[in-house]
Amino acid sequence: MRRDWVNKLFIERSDLYLRLLNQRWLGTEELVDGMTKVLDSFGIKAGHLLDLCCGNGRISIHMAKKGFKAVGVDISRAFLEAGERKARELGVSNLVTFLEGDIRKLEEVVRTRYSRPFDVVVNAWASLGFYEKEDDLSMFKQARQLSKEGSILFVAETTHTEYLSIKFAPTSYIDLNRFVILENRRYEPLTSQVSTSWIFYNKRGQDLELIDKVEITHHIYSLSELSSLLLKAGWKTVASYGNLSTLQSMSPLTHMNIVAKAV
Ligand SMILES: C[S@@+](CC[C@H](N)C(=O)[O-])C[C@H]1O[C@@H](n2cnc3c(N)ncnc32)[C@H](O)[C@@H]1O
Repeated sequence: MRRDWVNKLFIERSDLYLRLLNQRWLGTEELVDGMTKVLDSFGIKAGHLLDLCCGNGRISIHMAKKGFKAVGVDISRAFLEAGERKARELGVSNLVTFLEGDIRKLEEVVRTRYSRPFDVVVNAWASLGFYEKEDDLSMFKQARQLSKEGSILFVAETTHTEYLSIKFAPTSYIDLNRFVILENRRYEPLTSQVSTSWIFYNKRGQDLELIDKVEITHHIYSLSELSSLLLKAGWKTVASYGNLSTLQSMSPLTHMNIVAKAV
């Protein structure tokens, strides 16, 4: 079953969420620099990369600029079309393939268009926990099936339960010039679910004009919980970082970035 909020936030209101995806491009070059340093340490300097839930392709496109052949999979056609436009603008469309499809049917979606095994898999910016835990397990298992032995998986820029237990913010907002996103959150430690109301406004002078509201719920992992799920899927965690751009170590006050190796 497709979660209604996934449909609403990423497909029906892709016009609103796309503004956030565009803003996220800032800092992606540094993130990808860090990722390539890590890959270098495993002897991977080029190859095929699979970008799970790629959005408008910021990781795929930046990795293509480094010479990787990238395949991005996402459920939102609007995001992929925006990614295709950016890949053309940046002169890497020959290195990036965008595939529309549901990550829960990853193997089917990828195998119809791409036959080469992957050297690198990326799941960036909280692109998990949307459905059941079994769906995350299945996504990583399928990604493993599509990859070579020794390939590297990054679960990047993701929040984690240790962070929430210290720094949980019930409210925050993002100001995007003439547009504001307000987030009101509830965290349920017993189930590790965060429920968030995303409220989108246009700025009109001193006032805010409501555009739309989307209620979302997703599961937040701890490092150990996600590492054991990854291991069940055939990925052994070999490092964790707080910041992949600087390779700073992970702590309860940082993001979670996992590096895992296909076993
Ligand atoms: C938080 S965004 C992250 C986008 C991208 N990874 C990035 O770092 O910019 C989550 C993405 O997951 C995609 N998504 C959600 N459910 C999906 C599904 N079942 N199959 C494929 N993509 C999905 C959304 O369309 C959205 O682009």
